[in-house]
Order: sequence, then structure tokens, then C-alpha cells
Amino acid sequence: MSIYNNLNKKLLPKHIAIIMDGNGRWAKELGKNRYYGHVQGIKSIKKTVDAIIKLKIPYLTLFAFSKENWNRPKKEVNLLMNLFMSTIIENQDHFYNKKIKITTIGELNDLPKQCQKALIEMMNKTKNNAVLNLTLALSYSSRTEITQAVQKMLNEEKPKNSAEISEALLSSYLQTKGIPDPELLIRTSGERRVSNFLLWQIAFSELYFSEKKWPDFNEEELYMAIFEFQKRERRFGKTTDQLKNEIN
Ligand code: FPP
Repeated sequence: MSIYNNLNKKLLPKHIAIIMDGNGRWAKELGKNRYYGHVQGIKSIKKTVDAIIKLKIPYLTLFAFSKENWNRPKKEVNLLMNLFMSTIIENQDHFYNKKIKITTIGELNDLPKQCQKALIEMMNKTKNNAVLNLTLALSYSSRTEITQAVQKMLNEEKPKNSAEISEALLSSYLQTKGIPDPELLIRTSGERRVSNFLLWQIAFSELYFSEKKWPDFNEEELYMAIFEFQKRERRFGKTTDQLKNEIN
């Protein structure tokens, strides 16, 4: 029986963020090259997106390529960029028909021009969709995002004193402006790190580490992560008794 049936549909997170990790190791275990793992990873993205839509969860953010990933061998980086581009072009109608709105965070300018073009086309085509807001983090670094937000904020706001700077104001300068913070962050492949991903936004997120490598992640693994999330008590600094009183 699917774990889907055990989920409390009234207690679902609104936003799930995923660090898709383990493609290379998964392929190596099968005696294949790393690229094969990335290609299989696309299938996991499709399964995850379908499950998220089935649950009516409105926001999904996927860490597809970090700013640090540029340090990988040039050949792997080139293959990944081509894979991003071909996946985006081939799936444009698929995403559009499923009413998915695609946006990106990260330094889009770092990507090859053709890849930027495909992404911009996809974002334009899907901009009025509202079933799922799918954000792709590409050439993304959370520290860079926060640093740039501070620079932009000081340039535009020109505060007379530092007290004018608030958490809400800084949030509004982040690339995730308008997107609620994720309640659940999933990382696959057994690694227990957040790797410079959404550092500000995950302040109160539940962290779930799956032992599965990303190409083995599927609908059931997602349901399992949400099931675990629903068992946790999210106190936001309060006590258990306070929370009980609030409910009663
Ligand atoms: C991490 O595995 C995975 C990546 C760096 C790339 C993930 C990208 C995809 C699955 C394709 C996404 C496509 C679109 C269009 C968004 P790893 O290579 O770090 O694996 P390892 O830790 O085993 O080496």
C-alpha cells in the first residue's frame, strides 16, 4: 500500500525544497559514467513533480546546479548544461500543459547563452500557470544571494539609520521574494549538509535526509519524507504545552 494513503492531506507543507544528490555515485555503482546518473535524475524530477501536483503542494524548489559546481571537470559541466537545455526544450509543452510555472534563482548569466535562452522562453511560456511554482536553482549560492540582497537594499533604500533594516525588508531583496519559506528540506544520498542552499529561507524548515541516491528517489520516497515531516512537532521556539493551549 502506498504511504500516500497515510498522509494527512490537511497538514501538507506548502513548499518543499530538495537537494538532489548522488547521481554520480549511483551511476558509478552500476559501472556507468556520471552523466548516465544525471540523465536518470531527470526521471526522478518528473516523478517528484507528478507527486507534488497530486498532493496539490504549490511550491517546489530544486537545487540543480550550485555556484560551486562550476569547479567540476569542464566535460561534466558542459554535459550538464546541455542536459539542462535539452530537458527544458523537450519538456516545454509538458510543463505548460501541467500548468507548472517555472522560475529560477541563481546567477542565470553564468549559464551558456543558449541555455539562458531556453530558460527564458520556458519562463515566459509558463508565467501565467498556477498549479505548481517550480523554482530551479541554477548556479545558485545562498551566500551570494544574501550578499547581493544587502548590496541592492543599501543602494536602493539608503537607510538613515540601521534600525530601518528589518528581516522583512532584507527578505524582499532575496531572489525568493514572494515565495514562502520551505517547511521541508529534503537531501538525498545520505549526506547531511545544506551546502549553501536557501540558508536564510530554511531557518525553521524541517530537514529530512534520505539514504536513497537521487535517481532512486520517487513518489513513495517523497511521501515518506512528508510522512516523517507530519510526525514532527514544529514549535518555533515555543513549548509543547503552549502549542496545545493554542489548539484548544
Ligand atoms: C548531484 O549529484 C546532482 C547534480 C549536481 C545535478 C542535478 C541535475 C539534474 C538531476 C538535472 C536537472 C535538470 C533540470 C532541467 C533542472 P552529484 O553529481 O553531486 O552526485 P555525487 O554526489 O554522487 O557525485
